[in-house]
Amino acid sequence: MTTGKNHQGENPTPHRHRSAWGHIIRGLWRTPLGIMSVVLTTISATLMVLGIIADLFGLFRNPYVGVWIYMIFPMFMVAGLILIPIAAYLRRRQWHKSGVEKKPLKIDLSNPKHRLFLIGFIVLTVINVAIFGLAGYEGYHFTDSPYFCGMVCHHVMAPEYTAYQRSPHSRVSCVECHIGPGAEWFVKAKISGLRQVYAVITNSYARPIPTPVEALRPARDTCEQCHWPEKFYGKMVKKFYTSDDNSTEPKATEISLHIGGRNPVTDQFEGIHWHVSKDVKVEYLAMDKKRTRISKIRVKRPDGSTDEFIKSDVDPEKGYTPKWRVMDCIDCHNRPTHIYSMPEDVINFGLLSKKLDPAIPGIKQDSLKVLTKRYKSRKQAQEQLIPDLLALQKKRNPQAASAYEPKIEQAGNYLLQAYLNNVWPANNVFWGTYKSHLGHQWADEGYGCWRCHDEEHSNSKGETISQDCSLCHDEPE
Ligand code: HEC
Ligand code: HEC
Ligand code: HEC
Ligand code: HEC
Ligand code: HEC
Repeated sequence: MTTGKNHQGENPTPHRHRSAWGHIIRGLWRTPLGIMSVVLTTISATLMVLGIIADLFGLFRNPYVGVWIYMIFPMFMVAGLILIPIAAYLRRRQWHKSGVEKKPLKIDLSNPKHRLFLIGFIVLTVINVAIFGLAGYEGYHFTDSPYFCGMVCHHVMAPEYTAYQRSPHSRVSCVECHIGPGAEWFVKAKISGLRQVYAVITNSYARPIPTPVEALRPARDTCEQCHWPEKFYGKMVKKFYTSDDNSTEPKATEISLHIGGRNPVTDQFEGIHWHVSKDVKVEYLAMDKKRTRISKIRVKRPDGSTDEFIKSDVDPEKGYTPKWRVMDCIDCHNRPTHIYSMPEDVINFGLLSKKLDPAIPGIKQDSLKVLTKRYKSRKQAQEQLIPDLLALQKKRNPQAASAYEPKIEQAGNYLLQAYLNNVWPANNVFWGTYKSHLGHQWADEGYGCWRCHDEEHSNSKGETISQDCSLCHDEPE
């Protein structure tokens, strides 16, 4: 084998053993672009493979490493693979310009060098495809994992992720509710995911993230993978704590909710889950984006009869075109996993569990003051909430404040934790930003059952949807 000298201006006739392909391959090494593309492909492919192997063995649990392995390295590798033929083309054009004989590329399988080249090319391609297949498969699982959703965009979805981690669904991954099974929604989700990544990069995402999530998949396709209306039955006792303004002794109220579902004795659907049983369809027309002001409700009952309930004095929100919506789980369970508390509940529970010692004078009022104070950031709250509580207490009663100091600090720690679970000033998420439709605590703001069960929507016979307390719950036996 001879080393051909093919620099411009040197021997312009290609060596007889060397084909045009040979020149291109060798020529690659002589252009900066060619070297760069080969090096880029090799290094990123190597790092990617090592990373995937490390990930398969569970060697890291850091979403940013995942972003490199499954997004950035593959991007570099593809860029390198695209650049290689471009570099070769540019090199060839340069030769032609300098007068190298223009020969069409010919692959001659009887030529051992051509055969070797072709085999090499096929082997490399197979390896590349395999690497991409593996990266794609692992990357698919990675981008579907809660820690990717929650952590990569951690400042964006921190409120949702934090609430999720202490919810009954903390072992259910984000995608099981937000995407669900099937290819169609998977593609939709990845497209909207790209849009979201763009919004994060350009810092143009909404704060707080608005609800209801308009494009959320119908809940029956997702929730019913694990819960189904057939299965619900009977009653469920739930306890609520309240206390009046001057009392530090929370009172418990117990109600027995008529969960319903299919009654195995009568085979009839009944109770609260009646709305989502298989022979029932409830649809409604809300006049605002938040779905808090409902003007019409249509119902199809199990016996086949239909009805429409109307409240005529509900004005549409400006710029919003009302759309009919089939009622599903989310119209009641809008907070199944991103569950936030209210300051009153935090304080009542604190008093009950003695994390806030009821013996400290004025602890209830001062707790409410620090919990609802508008700190600029979570960091500021971490630094100031406990000192603020101590200061309020000192002002109120200096003797008690020093006598109870350790208890006040304990109270401060409990309140700070509750604050950090519920408030993100940078995302504009404050107490009560995300309200629940379950029940009727926020009925006056248009949340919950009383949006329809208000005895103000009426049908042609003047009948209304009942607000009779015993329809939905009674006192536990
Ligand atoms: C049990 C089902 C479920 C799981 C699991 C779940 N979500 Fe949600 N998510 C919902 C529902 C329901 C809504 C509210 C939809 C509505 O009001 O329209 C929601 C709303 C959101 C919102 C909009 C803001 C808000 O709070 O309403 C974001 C962002 C979000 N989820 C992110 C996540 C992330 C990230 C994860 C995983 C760490 C996750 N979700 C896991 C059901 C779920
Ligand atoms: C992948 C399975 C899965 C999916 C999907 C799922 N859940 Fe759950 N859900 C669970 C599990 C597990 C629990 C916890 C059961 C327990 O702790 O007894 C639960 C508990 C609940 C509870 C009871 C909460 C409590 O306070 O005890 C409600 C309500 C609920 N889910 C509603 C929903 C809704 C609404 C959706 C759809 C947006 C949904 N779930 C989707 C698995 C799932
Ligand atoms: C009309 C409102 C409404 C609709 C629609 C609704 N639920 Fe419920 N669901 C409730 C209420 C109210 C409770 C009682 C629990 C509570 O208040 O915390 C409940 C309780 C539950 C529980 C816990 C009960 C138990 O036996 O442990 C699950 C799980 C649940 N719902 C899932 C669903 C799913 C899945 C859907 C959709 C197919 C759905 N719900 C539709 C109002 C509703
Ligand atoms: C979008 C409107 C709407 C909302 C919101 C709504 N309901 Fe209903 N509900 C209806 C309609 C319509 C009926 C049936 C009225 C009829 O048949 O005359 C009904 C019937 C019921 C029934 C009787 C079911 C039976 O056995 O026949 C119960 C119980 C009930 N609702 C509970 C609730 C609870 C609890 C909530 C809130 C968590 C709620 N509803 C929210 C529209 C609604
Ligand atoms: C359409 C169904 C429905 C009707 C009608 C209804 N409730 Fe409720 N109520 C609920 C549900 C659901 C909850 C549970 C909320 C939760 O899980 O957070 C609840 C919770 C409560 C609570 C405890 C939580 C709180 O807000 O303090 C009280 C008290 C209560 N209801 C009183 C009443 C009274 C009094 C009436 C009659 C005027 C009534 N309810 C009518 C569905 C209903």
